[in-house]
Amino acid sequence: MSKNFLWGSSISGGQCEGGYDSRSETVVDLIPSGKDTRFQYLDNPGIYMERPTGFYPSQKGVEFYENYKEDIALYAQMGLKALRFSILWSRIFLDDSLTPNEEGLQFYDHVIDELIKHHIEPIITTIHFDMPVWVVEKYNGFYNKKVVELYEHYVKTIVHRYHDRVKYWISFCEINVMNHALYMVSGTIVQKGQNREEILHQCAYHQLLANAILVKICHETDATLKVGCEVAGSPCYPLTSSPEDYQLMMKADRSNYRYTDVMVKGHFPYYFLKELQQYHIEMLEEDIQMIQENTLDFIAVSYYKSGVASSEGITTNPKLETTPFGWTIDPVGLRIMLNQMYERYEKPIMIVENGLGTYDQVENGKVHDDYRIDYLQKHIEQMELAIEDGVDVIGYLTWAAMDVVSTSEGYMSKRYGFIYVDRQDDGSGTLKRIPKDSFYWYQRFIREKS
Ligand code: BG6
Repeated sequence: MSKNFLWGSSISGGQCEGGYDSRSETVVDLIPSGKDTRFQYLDNPGIYMERPTGFYPSQKGVEFYENYKEDIALYAQMGLKALRFSILWSRIFLDDSLTPNEEGLQFYDHVIDELIKHHIEPIITTIHFDMPVWVVEKYNGFYNKKVVELYEHYVKTIVHRYHDRVKYWISFCEINVMNHALYMVSGTIVQKGQNREEILHQCAYHQLLANAILVKICHETDATLKVGCEVAGSPCYPLTSSPEDYQLMMKADRSNYRYTDVMVKGHFPYYFLKELQQYHIEMLEEDIQMIQENTLDFIAVSYYKSGVASSEGITTNPKLETTPFGWTIDPVGLRIMLNQMYERYEKPIMIVENGLGTYDQVENGKVHDDYRIDYLQKHIEQMELAIEDGVDVIGYLTWAAMDVVSTSEGYMSKRYGFIYVDRQDDGSGTLKRIPKDSFYWYQRFIREKS
């Protein structure tokens, strides 16, 4: 494995920053916690909701905004070689006035400089489930082509500001998650009586165009910049040998990979083209050319679990164990997914999220998370086997560098970090950072590999 391999970790602005008073709101600030209600909001909150009362964890995150220096010092102590974080569009543009918020730009200047000071490679995601609420209210998110223009202005601003220090750029976090969380990924609300699938395809088309625009801006600014888009990688197994299960598996794969298919190959695969035609999505020649000429340099993937395809509606794989939150644990699935992706795209792959979300207990000021170490070790082993298979993997970033607000639950208690943060679901806690056993394990591991 190359000495330049990026051993690192990830966080996202909407889940860790807080700093609510110095920015405008993002969609996750207004989504209620608790899996049952949360899921329907993630996809579609319907007619726009009232401003919430009560405690919404994303508004405060884990106060990275105030603590970034101390947090980055801990990441450095762990030996991270790379940190992926997201810039909040809602911190750079407080509204659609087109004038950036200098204070917001300076915050990310400081974060980047601090990372570089500690020899940690900064990797930026431009949108990580954190669309600004003003974009939703005024334009209904990526459903509206005007938002592609606004995105272009936003990314031009940040690429021009940070390109001298940031080499790796990721357009969207898990673009394929829009398939079931459209509001969170695209900032779009579907009204009663509207065709959700048509709206989804329109948003997808606009986001693919926006991605190509980011690639163009980056490459024109500095030809050595590398751009990726993140896809949630989840290999799907047919539950039985029945042709119906196999067909369902193919369908699941296509709906997951149709976005990267376009972003890497520069054209729409036949099955996706058919869908776009079915929903009468207007495809302008100049858009198609932009997409064709500006393709990704690398694929960013997250990997947590695999899925099953069953014509009998079975959704859990009986051969695999699950976490306390019901996510399958399947390290071999990582090797399979990496091979599938590399075979499909033949582009370098950066794993930008992988980790175990579970409950942690503090005992006498320590967190003994041997279960997390075991999970990570087994996944790294499979990644190394994929590299032996010939897959070009350029980095392994875990989710997450420290505990942050969970996306699906909206709570703190589903924890992924190497660093425990004393913030509880109701907002109580001292915010104290406690390195877990996995912190010291990753520290030793990275040292040995370097
Ligand atoms: C990915 C996201 O989907 O998975 C992260 O990019 C998220 O934002 C992570 O936190 C884990 O998911 P969850 O729902 O357990 O927090």
